[in-house]
Amino acid sequence: MEMQMELRPQPHVLLLPFPAQGHIKPMLALAQLLCHAGIHVTFLNTEHNHRQLTQRQALSARFPTLHFRSISDGLPSDHPRSISPNLMDIVSSLRSKTAPLLHQLLVSLMSKNDVGSAAQLPSLGCVITDGIMCFAIEAAEEVGIPVIALRTTSACSFWCYSCIPKLIEEAQLPFGDEDMDKMVSGIPGMECLLRRRDLPSICRVPTDHPVIQFFVEETRAITRASSLILNTFDDLESSILSHIASRFSKIYTIGPLHALLKSRVVDDNLSSSLRQEDRGCMMWLDSQRVGSVIFVSFGSLVKLTRVQLLEFWHGLVNSGSPFLWVIRSDVLWSDEAEQASHVTPAEVIVDWAPQEEVLAHEAVGGFLTHSGWNSTLEAIWAGVPMLCWPQLADQQVNSRWVGEVWKIGVDMKDTCDRSTVEKMIKALMKGEDKEVISRSVDHFAKLARTSVSKNGSSYLNLEKLIQDLRNL
Ligand code: UDX
Repeated sequence: MEMQMELRPQPHVLLLPFPAQGHIKPMLALAQLLCHAGIHVTFLNTEHNHRQLTQRQALSARFPTLHFRSISDGLPSDHPRSISPNLMDIVSSLRSKTAPLLHQLLVSLMSKNDVGSAAQLPSLGCVITDGIMCFAIEAAEEVGIPVIALRTTSACSFWCYSCIPKLIEEAQLPFGDEDMDKMVSGIPGMECLLRRRDLPSICRVPTDHPVIQFFVEETRAITRASSLILNTFDDLESSILSHIASRFSKIYTIGPLHALLKSRVVDDNLSSSLRQEDRGCMMWLDSQRVGSVIFVSFGSLVKLTRVQLLEFWHGLVNSGSPFLWVIRSDVLWSDEAEQASHVTPAEVIVDWAPQEEVLAHEAVGGFLTHSGWNSTLEAIWAGVPMLCWPQLADQQVNSRWVGEVWKIGVDMKDTCDRSTVEKMIKALMKGEDKEVISRSVDHFAKLARTSVSKNGSSYLNLEKLIQDLRNL
């Protein structure tokens, strides 16, 4: 194998993440894994995120075949660029302004004399695009280059997105606010499991809303990619993966990507955060009892009202568990940020934490989360039970799976009043179901370890992907 690597010229692949933290992180983990195998990677961020990614130089120094490039997102410089509530602004600008620039860049990277690269690179042989950036599939088709799509969500939520046109056809969508507990039929493999409130959040808007149209279009377009990469592992989602397989000729399940990177490449992953991490909380964790702390983090996009923030605060304090809470500087809806007073003592609040390390700390015994897919995988890997408060996109589906299928946490869904928060935290940290949940948590943490270890499913699927890229 090593001999072959030396003899054959290594391919050059362009990786294009959607411009958001939760998308950049798994794509960057994949980039490092490919570079570790000697493959040349051009990692293309928007100019804005390129500047925010402070570890760029350290990453390039560690992986000499990793080359960062940037492209305009077409938005004015003073645009807030936060996905919520600006998703459609960002998407329209990417489709109309970034897409033609991407086309030009592909042409340039395919010719031998690309002027933008610092190093002499082999001609570009493949694009791996985020699965909600399907204009890149079109651009790749135009220049005649293979394209693979990476979807950063769970397989179960991706399958729900794929079935939305069917739900519309069957008039299960749209639904109003009433009867959110009604069961949803029509998603193969998920019978008697999903209530309306468990569907992706876009199902709560009228079916002619641009956001639902966007996801329907992207989910249709993604099937034009030659294959699909998913950040999940077979033992976690095998039954749903068999349904997705009917739509793709090849699927590479290579998750959890952060863990595969740790186990195959380097134990000390360089941060791919777009925000400055506050490491001070690690010392505070060192001073806490084993398994006593609840870690609270709602990812990079979720916003809260001031009332919700206060309800969580009271619920957390009343639960009696010590807690560490990530409160991003932009977590409040902008019209409420002005009125926000600091309601919490500084030692347990951080603007942005080294989340993977926090979850791995022995003091952490529970995770109050928004059920973003990266966070869910990180908790599974670390063996930490979850209390889920999903808000957007795929999160509603993920939390249902956490609570009902994998039984590795509890799903609080659409409520966060102080008494519910208190009750749920107590149930998670000290309640009757703690034993059952702990057993499932251990079980899935072990399966995750098996999947990324030598000859595990994700390990082997990555090998296949690398081979297939070399054979293109
Ligand atoms: C959203 C979706 O919900 C997610 O499922 C989708 O795949 C990407 O977009 P986001 O809100 O960013 O994601 O959540 P999540 O997927 O959990 O990603 C957040 C990432 O930021 C995690 O990898 C987490 O470790 C990291 N993080 C979060 C930190 O490093 N520090 C923090 O303080 C908080």
